Amino acid sequence: MVTPEIERAADALRAGELVAFPTETVYGLGADASNPHAVQKLFAVKRRPADHPVIVHIARTEQLEDLAIDVPDIAHALADAFWPGPLTLVVNRNPERVSAEVTGGRETVGLRVPDHPLALALLDAFGGGVAAPSANRFGRVSPTTAAHVRHDLGADVSVVLDGGPCRVGIESTIVDLTGSEPAILRVGGVSQTQIEEAVGRPAALRTAGEIAAPGTLASHYSPTAAVEILDVANVTARALELIGAEQRVGVLAPWDTISDIPDQLVVLDPPANVGDYARALYARFRAADELELDVLLVVLPPETTAGLGAAIVDRVRRAAR
Ligand code: TXA
Ligand code: MG
Repeated sequence: MVTPEIERAADALRAGELVAFPTETVYGLGADASNPHAVQKLFAVKRRPADHPVIVHIARTEQLEDLAIDVPDIAHALADAFWPGPLTLVVNRNPERVSAEVTGGRETVGLRVPDHPLALALLDAFGGGVAAPSANRFGRVSPTTAAHVRHDLGADVSVVLDGGPCRVGIESTIVDLTGSEPAILRVGGVSQTQIEEAVGRPAALRTAGEIAAPGTLASHYSPTAAVEILDVANVTARALELIGAEQRVGVLAPWDTISDIPDQLVVLDPPANVGDYARALYARFRAADELELDVLLVVLPPETTAGLGAAIVDRVRRAAR
């Protein structure tokens, strides 16, 4: 439905302005993908290096053929299986529809149809592709509520659409389809197994090493507090050691109960299951900073469940580096 608020936001995009909007993964900061000036503004507000490509969001799968060229069959198979949803497909960019500023000069573009009614209403009203990285300053934790966006970007963004807390809570899975075999550049809401089932062949993980997907740099996704990963059995001893060294310590642990919680250990609200863990992770990282923790001890969820476990483990490991 096109509300006056959506109309205003779509007009702002047409005028080259920035609009923050919810998706099912995290909040995005959007600009008209065909307008180089708008995209430059986007990079300036994010304080993001110009060579880091941005994902372009579209309302409908059919726009894949419009924004990309030489689209392989497996792109259609994946789009049919997972769009709208937390999956980004890297394909060859159509230079007439996606400016080089969006892709950091690359000939490829990441595309996705997000699964959120406000995002889809905005994209539909606007009509074209919307370039949108996560709506945080470069290198900081992605926002999963409109309040996070306002806290991070403040007056630098005129329109913030509030769609409540994000349902997935972790960024989309990115699959590169421009090579001879599909490669997963970032793990997220769609699992490696789900992707392999949809394309009927292996999809290798290429999430480490070179700058194939620069958003996967180690320094990303971290709170200011130092993050340490450990087994639940070791939390108490490590906490006591750090508290003894005058550190302010918190713990984020899933449903396992920690026995003998030391008095000065700050226990962050524990997630109830893997989905809840993914939804809560970035908000807990932000809470750790608001509580001015020096160290955040993290007990990981089981890696296997529904694929989301792997995405959580990926983000926490990056935060811990
Ligand atoms: O869930 C998401 O994907 C969120 C929401 C807002 O859609 N967006 C997001 O955007 O996480 P951002 O900019 O924070 O991360 C984009 C990632 C980066 O790692 C970037 O390197 C990668 O996508 N990427 C974008 N275009 C690419 C391309 N052409 N080739 C390789 N990697 C690309
Ligand atoms: Mg980001």
